Amino acid sequence: MEQTKKPEKPKYGALSNIAFTIKNILRIDKVLLASMIALVFCMVAQPVVGVLMPKFIIQFFEEGRDIASLLLLVAVFGVTSLVLGQLRSFADGYFPRMKSMYRSMRLGAEMCLASMQVDYKHLSSEKGQLENRKAQRAISSPREGVEDIVVRIVECSANLLGAVVYIFILSTLNPLVILVLAVCGAVSYFAGNLVNRYIIKHKEEVNKVEQKTYSASASTGDVMYAKDIRMYGMFDWLASLLRKYNDENILWQNRILLRMFFSEVADGVVAFLRDGFAYLYLISLVLAGTIPVSQFILYIGAIAGLSSWISGFAKNAIQLNTASIQVSDFRVFLEKSEEHTKGDRQQREFSLPMQIEFRHVDFSYGEHVIFQDFNVVIERGRKVALVGINGAGKTTLVKLLLNLAEPDRGEILLDGVDSREVDLKQYFSQFSVAFQDALILAYGMDVNISMRNSRDTDQARVDAAIESAGLTKKVKELKKGKFTSCEKYLDNEGTELSGGERQKVILARALYKAAPVLVLDEPSAALDPIAESRLYETYHEMTKNKTSIYISHRLSSTKFCDEVLLLDGGRIAERGTHNELMRLCGTYAHMFDIQSHYYREEGGEPA
Ligand SMILES: Nc1ncnc2c1ncn2[C@@H]1O[C@H](COP(=O)(O)OP(=O)(O)OP(=O)(O)O)[C@@H](O)[C@H]1O
Ligand SMILES: [Mg+2]
Repeated sequence: MEQTKKPEKPKYGALSNIAFTIKNILRIDKVLLASMIALVFCMVAQPVVGVLMPKFIIQFFEEGRDIASLLLLVAVFGVTSLVLGQLRSFADGYFPRMKSMYRSMRLGAEMCLASMQVDYKHLSSEKGQLENRKAQRAISSPREGVEDIVVRIVECSANLLGAVVYIFILSTLNPLVILVLAVCGAVSYFAGNLVNRYIIKHKEEVNKVEQKTYSASASTGDVMYAKDIRMYGMFDWLASLLRKYNDENILWQNRILLRMFFSEVADGVVAFLRDGFAYLYLISLVLAGTIPVSQFILYIGAIAGLSSWISGFAKNAIQLNTASIQVSDFRVFLEKSEEHTKGDRQQREFSLPMQIEFRHVDFSYGEHVIFQDFNVVIERGRKVALVGINGAGKTTLVKLLLNLAEPDRGEILLDGVDSREVDLKQYFSQFSVAFQDALILAYGMDVNISMRNSRDTDQARVDAAIESAGLTKKVKELKKGKFTSCEKYLDNEGTELSGGERQKVILARALYKAAPVLVLDEPSAALDPIAESRLYETYHEMTKNKTSIYISHRLSSTKFCDEVLLLDGGRIAERGTHNELMRLCGTYAHMFDIQSHYYREEGGEPA
């Protein structure tokens, strides 16, 4: 259904975005700017030569000049055309490649840098995600956003300059003619702009449909989904989804095309009336003997030219406006990445091991309240097990601690210092984390552990982390040992890791970093019993002189921690050692009993 929601006004207007683009081109690639100027010059000069040449040649005949000066004139025009043609082919050849590189490589690279620097809290929010998608779109196609605005700047400049030159040529004519032409141009602009306004008004809806189409079609070819598609017979359902989204997409495109058709018809009618008026008027001047034929030729050429400059400007200005909105989106995202360096965060001195405190913390995901007046202190060097049912908020608590989510109220203190006051880089360096959903990169295992270039990796530390994480045997089996790529994506000789092996790499990554606080979120979920028990045995060694948080649903794993925190209903409902909580006979004891029930039934006492 068509909606009438008013579109949000872009933060930056067209003029500001033109200035931004030119400044960027000047900074990044001066030769691109030179090719733009050459192109504008040629786009105007070539038709001017084309309009002037027949006028002067006929004028020579009218004035009965000698053949030698006529040949000289033709030679001058010929050489000028040749030079202009050469300049144009240089600009035509250079400009498309350079503008494409400007977008995809230069601004694309800046977008990547910005994406890595933008505050995680913002990036992971709904607003941040939307801003990110809009900025991505602005740099993803040559026909849109940051690249299209370059084309439109060139086109609009040529149209404007051309119009000025032609108005000068026509200046001896009745000003009414120029007025009529300007009015015709304005009508074309408004007809075209109606289409543009319609596109802008429904941009979000069209984007949404395109996004749905993209996500449905991307899943069809992704190996990640391939197993489920086959095993769960998802073909019909996905095919009908694709059809549905495609139909919606086509419907929107048809609505736009229909409006474009009417705008083109209006444009055609205006052009017909305009040219008819010009011809009639000029013929009447020739018949009345007011102007010679050579002047008629010049004026006819100039009027047709001026009309096309004006209507060209009208069309390009509309497209420039559309591209400018996307450039504004791009700038907004870039600015967000610069914001993280602002503020009064400072380097701090910490005394180790670290103490962690949550003080009166409130936190919600939208309407969904996770913590309300949440308080907890984890003493220096404590090994804490954090348990709770699915969705209790364990991962959220870790995100808050890591400064990856912001409390709505209250404070999170690291060694007594408010986390919001610490320099972010320094703050992040205090934590070694194994995330529940961590990614493995398509690089060597050593790089996946150090998370930096192989050259800058301390290989001795990698070896130690591999040993502690129980990966030594696996590494020995690999063709290139720890330098084997963990995905086949970039390297045919790469390996595919099993779920448990991936988890071990993620653990090794946290161990390599060796930060004062170790946070492991479900580190043993995919481990076999031998690997799991090995982890328990070495945990004490891993956490020496560190404060640590160990999140797990395997309650037996809490036995090697100093204390257990049970998260329930947004608060620490129970706290103590495993034995203390068992004696309490509360939720923890109940959960533990349920989990160990089957082990007991099968083989007596639980481990
Ligand atoms: N980015 C998010 N946006 C909205 N809701 C979220 C988001 N992340 C988590 N939640 C919700 O917050 C609640 C707590 O999630 P969290 O991931 O912290 O649970 P958890 O205790 O780690 O669970 P699990 O044991 O399954 O890992 C869940 O109900 C979840 O649906
Ligand atoms: Mg979790």
